[in-house]
Amino acid sequence: MEITKVGVLGCGLMGSGIAQVSATAGFEVIVLDVEQKFLDKGFAAIEKSLAKFAEKGTLKESPETVRHRLKGTTKKQDLADCDIVIEAIIENLHEKREMYASLDPIVKKEAIFASNTSSISITEMMTAGKRPERFVGLHFFNPVPLMKLVEVVKTIAAAEDVYETAYNFAKKLGKVPVRTSDKTGFIVNRLLVPYMLDAIRAFEEGVGSIPDIDNAMKLGCGYPMGPFTLLDFVGLDTTYYITHVMYDEFKEKRFASPPLLKRLVMAGWFGRKSGKGFYDYADPNNPAPVKF
Ligand code: 3HC
Repeated sequence: MEITKVGVLGCGLMGSGIAQVSATAGFEVIVLDVEQKFLDKGFAAIEKSLAKFAEKGTLKESPETVRHRLKGTTKKQDLADCDIVIEAIIENLHEKREMYASLDPIVKKEAIFASNTSSISITEMMTAGKRPERFVGLHFFNPVPLMKLVEVVKTIAAAEDVYETAYNFAKKLGKVPVRTSDKTGFIVNRLLVPYMLDAIRAFEEGVGSIPDIDNAMKLGCGYPMGPFTLLDFVGLDTTYYITHVMYDEFKEKRFASPPLLKRLVMAGWFGRKSGKGFYDYADPNNPAPVKF
């Protein structure tokens, strides 16, 4: 099956990134969001990122040419002729199911539906529409324009050719796809989430300070970011949400939220995006570890 037109649902951090890499790879892209202001914000981020790549000389075409392949809309009807629709809206099963249920009768029958969810069951989402065999997970990583990985998630209902088309689509985006099955957290979060939660537990038990644990993992293991920097980068609210879905699935302590993570989320300290988490970003170029 040939993919030429890509629909993206949601123009936030992940949706705008997915739209950007799709347009950069030569696909025609249409992005749906509920209000024009969200589209404007996402497209501004895309333009900034494209300008950076152009400046470095890593963009094959001009940013304007790439930008011309991108359109925004607030009308679901405009996605009718997409070959693949990738959802990157809020991590909420009810909202995702409602979105798929309303789009299923609109988007052409042969189109593939994909979700960028990091933890919600693809199987539970796919039953909202009438094409479970044409439904996969395509899990991108933040920041999408830089991160090479895409987890391609197969459910027990997915048709083989649909799955292979999605896998090859990820390759055409210049990404490195990996095959995984619809088990909560897939590969990366299955391993990453307990690691990040253990870092919080280690801190709570006095094993080391926040910057020391970060430096230890960065310099001792060659990770690009230490666990607390990464937690703030991913978003503490997002991580907290993921812990619930994973704990609910596996009932294992390693997926349970440590009390400190819950306290930070309750306080509205979500990490980098809210200006404070394990670090304080009052000076974004020089984050200061918060004293607990
Ligand atoms: N577009 C284009 N260029 C960008 C960019 C973007 N969106 N964001 C950053 N850049 C550029 C920077 O300008 C910089 O350019 P320069 O070399 O000319 O200065 C270059 O990329 C490198 O960026 P930085 O200097 O800011 O920092 P790093 O070298 O540390 O790279 C990083 C940034 C790629 C984010 C790296 O720190 C990293 O890999 N961190 C780990 C990220 C990670 O683990 N992500 C996964 C999170 S888990 C997830 O998403 C799953 C979810 O389900 C929870």
